[in-house]
Amino acid sequence: MIVILLGPPGVGKGTQGVRLCEERGLTHLSTGDLLRQARREGTPLGVEAQGFMDRGELVPDSVIMGMVEEALEQVPTNGGVIFDGFPRTVPQAEGLDEVLAGLGQEVDRVVLLEADDEVLVQRLSGRRTCSECGAVFNVFFDPPGHEGVCDRCGAAALQQRTDDAADTVRNRLEVYRRQTAPLIDLYGAREGLLRRVDGMGTVEAVRADLHAALD
Ligand code: AP5
Repeated sequence: MIVILLGPPGVGKGTQGVRLCEERGLTHLSTGDLLRQARREGTPLGVEAQGFMDRGELVPDSVIMGMVEEALEQVPTNGGVIFDGFPRTVPQAEGLDEVLAGLGQEVDRVVLLEADDEVLVQRLSGRRTCSECGAVFNVFFDPPGHEGVCDRCGAAALQQRTDDAADTVRNRLEVYRRQTAPLIDLYGAREGLLRRVDGMGTVEAVRADLHAALD
């Protein structure tokens, strides 16, 4: 099954994508995570992406498509994937269709997670990520047991993402509306493909609705 999780920054794509994949035996493919890994490793891709990410702008389509094709080579043949944060532009959506066609596959479901801007801004300002193991917390909604310390791996390594600064968040929301929201109409025009899920509830409530949207 090929699934696209579509939605604005902070709506819960990563939180839900990881869990859905664990529960359904799918591969979680987050272009944001791949780019942050490349930055940590200091690869040429990471260096190229850094400025775009820090400004809250999109990394060029050609860079993203090359990265996704490479990542898909690691997925077992005919294995299911949940794409998180990809595609984000019409050319990326067209590129994905082509790549999947080459593999004899197609997009099976697009789930649009939705939430109000004020909820998104609060979630992003409260997000803390463990720089050691990648676990994600939220000082408002899912705080760690001890401030700054990761409950999963125990490292004192909880950090705020640099692109979660208030100015950058405003730009990311604007970029989403301008460059990514057109995908809602693109996929909505394909019979039976797009499902909408309210992302404002608790993590558990949203997860239940997502499972229903995938069945
Ligand atoms: P990316 O990492 O993809 O960021 P994003 O899409 O902006 O999404 P986020 O990771 O901010 O939010 P999320 O929806 O995953 O929310 P989360 O689950 O963490 O991209 C970063 C940058 O990389 C981009 O700006 C761009 O520069 C570049 N990039 C990436 N992909 C690209 C592409 N395809 N093309 C071009 N450029 C690309 O949740 C947020 C917080 O809320 C967490 O603290 C969580 O604990 C909490 N939370 C989640 N759900 C709930 C809930 N139901 N109730 C309460 N709290 C909740």
